[in-house]
Amino acid sequence: MPLDVEKFESEALVAIAEAKDRAALEEVENRLLGRKQGEFTLLMRGLSELAAPEKKSAGARLNELKGKLVEAVNQKRAALESAAWEQISETEKVDLTAPALPPRKSGHFHPSTLVQRDLENLFTSMGFAVLDGPEVESDYYNFSALNIPETHPARELQDTFYIKGHNNWVMRTHTSPMQVRAMQKYGAPLRVVVPGKCYRNEATDVRHEHTFYQFEGLVVDEGINFSHLKGVLEIVAKHLYGEKTEVRLRPKYYPFVEPGVNGEVTCFTCAGKGCRLCKNSGWLEVFGAGMVHPNVLIEGNIDPQKYTGFAFGFGLTRLVMLKYGIDDVRLLESGNMKFLEQF
Ligand code: DAH
Repeated sequence: MPLDVEKFESEALVAIAEAKDRAALEEVENRLLGRKQGEFTLLMRGLSELAAPEKKSAGARLNELKGKLVEAVNQKRAALESAAWEQISETEKVDLTAPALPPRKSGHFHPSTLVQRDLENLFTSMGFAVLDGPEVESDYYNFSALNIPETHPARELQDTFYIKGHNNWVMRTHTSPMQVRAMQKYGAPLRVVVPGKCYRNEATDVRHEHTFYQFEGLVVDEGINFSHLKGVLEIVAKHLYGEKTEVRLRPKYYPFVEPGVNGEVTCFTCAGKGCRLCKNSGWLEVFGAGMVHPNVLIEGNIDPQKYTGFAFGFGLTRLVMLKYGIDDVRLLESGNMKFLEQF
């Protein structure tokens, strides 16, 4: 036994000294000093086989050895820690005495996103689903499926950007193409809204921008009529501008609805009396709408004998400008931080 102790001690000290990092040291420590299966514990158990006088001196020797090993492990651990600290570059070290950094500014939603989310919440509360559509759209969905054939003059009003080498694809000029996509995919009955970015080839000025947002809605079911349309639009108008707001619908031609209307709401700055914002008319034009044209239902694989529907498209960008009193549409897509930080 005494011989074993000598050998154990020298080997143990070498193993401790050679541990190259903290994980290795921990392994050595467990192997040597582990409480149940550690080599030192096994040595201690050997004591019971010795005769009484020997047992006493060997016990004392082992106790002394244990102290030595624990000390060696502690020293090695301290040495490894300070070596690891030395290796961390100066910039990585944390100076706990340094003054705190100024609080980081967190981002926030764009005004268009705020208005979009507000409307999405309103419509989902009425049982509408919110859909997303492609911004690069086929000529078919953007125009033809919406009852705007190739030679139709309505295409002139919605000149857009075309995709080089892909003749039949355009940057969508409105969110209406999602009407037929939704009908084809989900069939009737249907209740959806589609917020999204649209594009037009515009000479830009304070009121015109090549990139803007719309907010489309579509309802198809049995027995849907014009008063359903008016009811929903009134809810939106009151939600946006207050209980006293009224909706005025006047006939307007859109190829994909029949009848089609141009929708206005009571000017909220002058309460309908007439002011600069509403150009003295008392009304603000904010959407187009109408009863879905039978040709469009057919295109969406829906039987116009059985189902009817209404559709509307809000100028979401226009709603944002009105809500926040923004007088230049170009600010919205400008990425100008001075402008954006105000929201
Ligand atoms: N898509 C039309 C536009 O961009 C707006 C519109 C009018 C949408 C009537 C509709 C609608 O759904 O029924 O000018």
